Amino acid sequence: MKSYSIALIPGDGIGHDVTAAAWAVLETAAQHAGFALTATQFPWSCKFYKETGRMMPEGGIETLRGFDAILLGAVGWPAEVPDSVSLHGLLLPIRKAFVQYANIRPHRLLPGVRGPLRAENFDILCIRENTEGEYSGAGGRVHQGTADEVAVETSIFTRAGVERILRFGFEQARARRGKLASVTKSNAQKYSMVFWDEITRKLAAEYSDVAVTSYHVDALAARMIMAPESLDVVVASNLFGDILTDIGAAIQGGLGYAASANINPDRSAPSMFEPVHGSAPDIAHLGIANPIAAIWSCAMMLDHLGEKAAAGRVIKALEATTARGIGTIAGKDRTEAITATVIAALT
Ligand code: NAD
Ligand code: IPM
Ligand code: MN
Repeated sequence: MKSYSIALIPGDGIGHDVTAAAWAVLETAAQHAGFALTATQFPWSCKFYKETGRMMPEGGIETLRGFDAILLGAVGWPAEVPDSVSLHGLLLPIRKAFVQYANIRPHRLLPGVRGPLRAENFDILCIRENTEGEYSGAGGRVHQGTADEVAVETSIFTRAGVERILRFGFEQARARRGKLASVTKSNAQKYSMVFWDEITRKLAAEYSDVAVTSYHVDALAARMIMAPESLDVVVASNLFGDILTDIGAAIQGGLGYAASANINPDRSAPSMFEPVHGSAPDIAHLGIANPIAAIWSCAMMLDHLGEKAAAGRVIKALEATTARGIGTIAGKDRTEAITATVIAALT
């Protein structure tokens, strides 16, 4: 029997609830499809940081490298550990170390879920650059705490990094409806973003079957609200993609529905699957976190592992669940009830 080893990092807050739910769905999907999944759980989190002074042990990255995939819940407990410490100690290093340069985030309404827009028939796939750009971590502070203090944080855009994410976007567009929106802010940022636009034009010549349009990020943000049906694949830098995908989450009903896959397309290291949302301290411990985003992320994991039929069945089970009105209104159904309905719909 085929078997996959998964590293499970629940992290903080509702990360625990949603990964437990998603794992239960994964196990059932594997049973039905006839493959095996084993989970190795790691307690790396803000709690772990309070106990050990680190978000993950030294060598944590090397420990993860041997797995077929990583399932992560959420990282961050700002009341006790600054976000700048927790995220730079766990989530962001994994994305970079494993060259998970393509962060894929689908935005569409599941049946029965009401978004805030009149538009209902949008189906957007955001591709976010995930290893460089505004998240490069290059910078520093001098004269700290004085009136002369200076803080510098430099975005780094490399030809290799921009070209590979754009190419990935073109490929996704080619496999979908053939439309690509490339997002920059080249009217204001005249080096990095002009560079991105130039590479977009260069690749457009190679992908003549894809209709590519360059948008400024402010205009694209408005378009996601005003005319989301006009968009197919959207490709953006790390920070722009982060912000646009929270808009994507909002128009698909909320963060409880927004899935994401941090993909290493070369398969030289494991990819990581996680919902877009965070640890939700305001609802942690209440048992009402929506597990749909995490479960959808696991469908993306199955797809990446090559278990396409099982991935499709998990998506169908999610659709059957929301079509019955389960998990469609924030706080109405408990995490366990939504999970049980998804599992029942799988059989
Ligand atoms: P958040 O996503 O945790 O919560 C924002 C709002 O959405 C809250 O009102 C929350 O209750 C709601 N929400 C989020 N997920 C939900 C779900 N599954 N079901 C129902 N409601 C849900 O964002 P935040 O409050 O800005 O951040 C909290 C912590 O999480 C911070 O430490 C932040 O840095 C971190 N964070 C981590 C990740 C990640 O690990 N990928 C992502 C975003 C934020
Ligand atoms: C996300 C999150 C992270 C990001 C944070 C928690 C660092 O917002 O995955 O969207 O900005 O990438
Ligand atoms: Mn985000």
